[in-house]
Amino acid sequence: MTEEQIIHATCAFVQKELKNAEGGHDWWHIERVWKNARGITITEPANAFIVQLAALLHDIADAKFYEGDENIGPQKAAIFLESLAVAPEIIQHVTLIIRNLSFKGGNITSPFYSTELAVVQDADRLDAIGAIGIARAFNYGGFKNRGMYDPAIAPDLHMDKETYKKSTAPTINHFYEKLLQLKDKMNTATGKKMAAERHRFMETFLQQFFDEWNGVR
Ligand code: ADP
Ligand code: NI
Repeated sequence: MTEEQIIHATCAFVQKELKNAEGGHDWWHIERVWKNARGITITEPANAFIVQLAALLHDIADAKFYEGDENIGPQKAAIFLESLAVAPEIIQHVTLIIRNLSFKGGNITSPFYSTELAVVQDADRLDAIGAIGIARAFNYGGFKNRGMYDPAIAPDLHMDKETYKKSTAPTINHFYEKLLQLKDKMNTATGKKMAAERHRFMETFLQQFFDEWNGVR
C-alpha cells in the first residue's frame, strides 16, 4: 500500500469506529484536527505521514469512555496499522504520540516529545479553542448534563488529574480551567499564531456572555 492509500484506509476505519461518538469527539473533530495538522506541517520540519496517522487515530478510543483505560486507544491504533503492514517504527511513533497527547489538567509534563507530537498536539488544542472550542465545550457540558454557568461555583485552577476527570463544574469554568490556558501551551509558530486569534475570540465571547448574564448589554 502507498502512504496515500494507508491514509485513505485510516480515514475509513476512523469514520466507522467513531460513528456513534459524542458530538465533540466525532469524525468531524478528527477531520478538523487532521486539516489543522496538515496546515501546521507546512511550516514545521515534521514527517507528514506520521503526523496524519496520529491526527486521524488520536481519539480512536478516548479513555474517558473506557473507564479511564489509557491503553485502549494506542492499542487499537497499533492493531489497525499492523493490519495494513505499516512499518513497526512508524506504528511505535504513532502510538507514542496518541499516548502522550492528551491534556489531563494541572501542569503534567509529557515524558515523550517529537516534532510530530508537537504538530498533532497543536492541531488538537486548536480545535478546543475559538468558535469551535466554545461549541464543543457547551456540547460536552450538555452531554454531561452540566449547567452553563453558576456564579457561586468558582473555577478551580489547580486541579490534579483525578479531580479534573471527576469535575462536575459548569461549562463556563472549563474556559478558565483549561481553554484560556491553551494558547500559552502551543508548540509551533503556526499553532501559536492561530491560537492567539482563537483566544481573542473566546475572550470576546466571555465578555459578551457575562454582560448579557448581568443584563448590561
Ligand atoms: P481532546 O480529546 O480533543 O483533547 P477532551 O477529551 O479533553 O479533548 O475534550 C473534548 C472536548 O470537550 C474539548 O473541546 C473540551 O474542551 C471539551 N471538554 C472537556 N472537558 C470539559 C468540561 N469539563 N466542560 C466543558 N467542556 C469540556
Ligand atoms: Ni482530540
